[in-house]
Amino acid sequence: MKVVITGGTGFIGRRLAQRLLQRGAVAGPDGRETAIDELVLFDLAAPRPPMAPDGRLKIITGDIADPATVRRVIDRATGTVFHFAAVVSGQAEADTDIGYRVNLDGTRAVLEACRALGTRPRLVFASSLAVYGGDMPQVIVDDTPLTPQTSYGAQKAIGEFLVNDYSRKAYVDGRALRLPTIVVRPGRPNRAASSWASSLFREPLSGAEVVCPVSRKSVMAILSPRRLVTAIERIHDLPGERFGFNRTVLLPAISATAEEMVDALRRAGGPTAVDRIRWEPDAFIQKIVDGWPRAVLAKRAESLGIHADAGIDEIVQAFIEDDLPAQKALVAAG
Ligand SMILES: NC(=O)c1ccc[n+]([C@@H]2O[C@H](COP(=O)([O-])OP(=O)(O)OC[C@H]3O[C@@H](n4cnc5c(N)ncnc54)[C@H](O)[C@@H]3O)[C@@H](O)[C@H]2O)c1
Repeated sequence: MKVVITGGTGFIGRRLAQRLLQRGAVAGPDGRETAIDELVLFDLAAPRPPMAPDGRLKIITGDIADPATVRRVIDRATGTVFHFAAVVSGQAEADTDIGYRVNLDGTRAVLEACRALGTRPRLVFASSLAVYGGDMPQVIVDDTPLTPQTSYGAQKAIGEFLVNDYSRKAYVDGRALRLPTIVVRPGRPNRAASSWASSLFREPLSGAEVVCPVSRKSVMAILSPRRLVTAIERIHDLPGERFGFNRTVLLPAISATAEEMVDALRRAGGPTAVDRIRWEPDAFIQKIVDGWPRAVLAKRAESLGIHADAGIDEIVQAFIEDDLPAQKALVAAG
């Protein structure tokens, strides 16, 4: 079976790809564990650094918002599509046209390519806690109304509804995961308004200085990449009937203030690591972050066997084990 990951050379796409290659199989159309013969990573650019060679791995570069390209990538052999290609929150807010083109038109192109197959492939869509905003309850629960206050959040909310509708019509066997901020993200800082949460650990632990653009009291709901990949696999493999009328699953998260993150950094890297942080509040980023949910109670996900990290220390430890050596090499390379 062929599996396609859009945004496949990005942070989560690449992480999932590594896991799928290691596992070698996913649930197929009949629900049985089915070997992955081909794993396509579709993205704007090839992976940096390159991935380890693997006969099953194919990299295709192109634009997700171009329906003809997407139709060529998602062909009859495709049993599963993980749709992760997106521009991040800060970019979608700053550039309305790019946000709607990639995050909305791109999602429609993927859904239409799946529909054109007539085989009802499985589809996993990455949504976001950014579907909530404005006048929210203190704790987000499974049935909290969607009130996005950013273009990115609106695009993700629309994507969720499209996944539901295309599933209802049996064009896809879709599911959407509402992700909290995934921490620690390796590599360079990106344009997500949440980027600081990863930077608070990543740069100081790898010996680099970092500027934090939000106040110490800022709160973020976070989940580790390890827990996320497990959740993606689990949600993918469940039979579609398990989701009933609602194909979206709110993922669990722990809540942490920037200050609590710094405390965890101190435990992992000592005072020298903490001294590498400079606090320079940026009103644009702070406003976006203040508009996001502060806490999540994801009972449905938990009933499906998906759990948050036990605490910030678990998240930091996962980064140290999985990513720190490569991160230090990146910093050393300049
Ligand atoms: N990482 C998080 O904390 C987080 C939180 C909530 C939701 N999400 C969602 O999860 C998904 C994956 O996130 P990520 O952290 O891996 O982001 P990422 O930026 O690392 O990966 C997204 C990928 O999409 C690609 N892309 C952008 N525009 C494209 C285009 N026009 N055509 C083809 N590819 C294009 C990018 O090149 C990038 O590699 C995204 O949909 C994101 O919105 C992520």
